[in-house]
Amino acid sequence: METFISKSESDTVRYGREFARRLGPGSFVGLYGNLGAGKTHFVKGVCEAFDVSEVVNSPTFTIVNEYHGKLPVFHIDLYRMKNIEEILDIGFDEYLEGGGVCLVEWAEKLDGILPANRFEVRMTLIDDATREITISTEGSEG
Ligand SMILES: Nc1ncnc2c1ncn2[C@@H]1O[C@H](COP(=O)(O)OP(=O)(O)O)[C@@H](O)[C@H]1O
Ligand SMILES: [Mg+2]
Repeated sequence: METFISKSESDTVRYGREFARRLGPGSFVGLYGNLGAGKTHFVKGVCEAFDVSEVVNSPTFTIVNEYHGKLPVFHIDLYRMKNIEEILDIGFDEYLEGGGVCLVEWAEKLDGILPANRFEVRMTLIDDATREITISTEGSEG
């Protein structure tokens, strides 16, 4: 488990970019933390590392943003999902098997269908500009 202290939005983007070196086809990243914790900015950094040229923004309403970089990047936000059935209805399994990197905000909603091999990124708001970022691995990612 590693812990980082981010002092700015751009710090968080940079941590995301550095973390992305550990990702490849089929990687799954669960992101945890309240609204405004910085999950989407961390994803922006991951996307930069994969040379995504599309704008990376919150998929709160679209639920899934698919970006086309060196690998497909599936950016999913489950904030509005009420249950596992709704999540399966968006084609969740197909994103997992899409040969890309899957990044899921509000991954706690995947109770029971959370991939065994995964990275967990937990973000906590400390003050206006400060965030604590903890990264851990589960299954064969560890
Ligand atoms: N250290 C930091 N890291 C990330 N975001 C920060 C930081 N400090 C302030 N912010 C602000 O917090 C908000 C984070 O938003 P966002 O990444 O969309 O969070 P989430 O996806 O967790 O809801 C942005 O408005 C950003 O400018
Ligand atoms: Mg977000």
